[in-house]
Amino acid sequence: MIRVVATSPFDGQKPGTSGLRKKVQVFQQPHYIENFVQSVFDSLDDYQGETLVLGGDGRYYNREAIQIVIKMAAAAGFGRVMVGKGGILSTPAASAVIRKHGAFGGIILSASHNPGGEHGDFGIKYNIGAGGPAPESVTDAIFEKSKTIAEYRISDAPDVDLDTLGITRVEDMVVDVVDPVEDYAELMGSLFDFDAIRDLFSGGFTMRFDAMSAVTGPYARAILEETLGAAPGTVVHGEPLPDFGGHHPDPNLVHARDLYDLLMSDDAPDMGAASDGDGDRNMIIGRGRFVTPSDSLAIIAANAHLAPGYKAGITGIARSMPTSGAADRVAEKLGVTCYETPTGWKFFGNLLDAGLATVCGEESFGTGSNHVREKDGLWAVLMWLNIVAVRERSVAEIVAEHWATYGRNYYTRHDYEEVDAGAAEDLVADLRARLETLPGTVINGLTVERADDFAYTDPVDGSVTTKQGLRVFFADGSRIVYRLSGTGTAGATLRVYIERFVTDPARLDLDTQDTLADLIAIARSLPDIEGRTGRAEPSVIT
Ligand code: G1P
Ligand code: ZN
Repeated sequence: MIRVVATSPFDGQKPGTSGLRKKVQVFQQPHYIENFVQSVFDSLDDYQGETLVLGGDGRYYNREAIQIVIKMAAAAGFGRVMVGKGGILSTPAASAVIRKHGAFGGIILSASHNPGGEHGDFGIKYNIGAGGPAPESVTDAIFEKSKTIAEYRISDAPDVDLDTLGITRVEDMVVDVVDPVEDYAELMGSLFDFDAIRDLFSGGFTMRFDAMSAVTGPYARAILEETLGAAPGTVVHGEPLPDFGGHHPDPNLVHARDLYDLLMSDDAPDMGAASDGDGDRNMIIGRGRFVTPSDSLAIIAANAHLAPGYKAGITGIARSMPTSGAADRVAEKLGVTCYETPTGWKFFGNLLDAGLATVCGEESFGTGSNHVREKDGLWAVLMWLNIVAVRERSVAEIVAEHWATYGRNYYTRHDYEEVDAGAAEDLVADLRARLETLPGTVINGLTVERADDFAYTDPVDGSVTTKQGLRVFFADGSRIVYRLSGTGTAGATLRVYIERFVTDPARLDLDTQDTLADLIAIARSLPDIEGRTGRAEPSVIT
């Protein structure tokens, strides 16, 4: 029976394209998640009888939320829910399932790389039929509905058994519990040269994949170990845990430090990789060589034709503005366009849909292609394995050869986390007001060539997005970018991105922070970061 439950308008703020992310306790409040889900359904049209894809990264409260969404989807009139076994679907796998089965859309339960567990974060987002995050028009509509919601509809049927594959029913709706890995693994098999990768592993290539006790464990085990023959034990922390073992499931130099240290040690395997809570981020490390995400994008773009799914070549590259210019050099050589978009994956969707770009990426450990409409951690790892297997070179050799061919974009990101929000906003506003005065000035021996506040006009729909980061370009091609994080939860995070392009063959393998030292000093003094925030040093250096 379907119940109509009277409720009061939802206090949630506007969901971003990464959905709604809050502490578990917030989601556990009576009617909270129901109000959000009903607001999503109320903002959609013509979904009766259609398919909804459902799954999450396995964090605390995942199963409870899945049961609620299933019962509400049944009450709303969906024809079928495809839910990953155990309530599991990585974000890229959900995107793949939505696209493969022509689903109306999907609901993904995840707070990405944020910590999980009873006192951690939870999240929910809606993806559209193209497989990507809901665009702003949809999230705006959801928000509008949430302000006036007065009731929601939910079936009072018993919970669905999420651990048995196959079909059951809730009201008139079919619930199809599917293998979370199958469709995704099939898609990967169609894109990459699995035979070549199998030969690589059987020839003794060693790897460690750290799933960080998050969702990619089952995917990595099935694909790397069972299908491609990587040695058992290649995948570590492969069991998704509700609290991710108490760690931040974020593959970066802070939270995946053990992996980095291993790869820099004498016992290093040939390659190391890690993925985040919901499987969309990736980190690639060769023995003795960390690959920056910006370089990874460029190297993938330059070598993508070696993978069967991309053998016809790429139509274009897209990178977020703060991502280094390494990909631009590759695009130039290939004779394709490199699109520069604001930060955030949603800006790639139109470019991929229109066929303007094939591969895309961000400096924040996100890489992907037109195979889905989310970034995809394991995809990037398989692409690297494919490249290594076909070129018969180590990760470090591939990186070195890339720099020798294209030059190297030395690159670092300095984050000042949890600074006073007012101080951070003032810092940006004051620097913005000074941008016009900067060109021509000489700071510490470097001449400012131009400075602007990044704005983006979408080449497909013409929409304009402004105030996406302050950029200061120097005459020698170096660049400093300032922007405030849009994803932080406490105070403000100031991100400063610093980059210098070097072609001198004798200067391609230097220490990044040393090579950028003069720019780093300018980056700090120009807006007086210490004076305004009290921070002499960033909290995280990537
Ligand atoms: C950060 C990253 C950005 C990424 C986003 C979601 O956003 O910088 O590239 O798309 O997380 O994963 P930020 O906190 O900088 O706004
Ligand atoms: Zn993520």
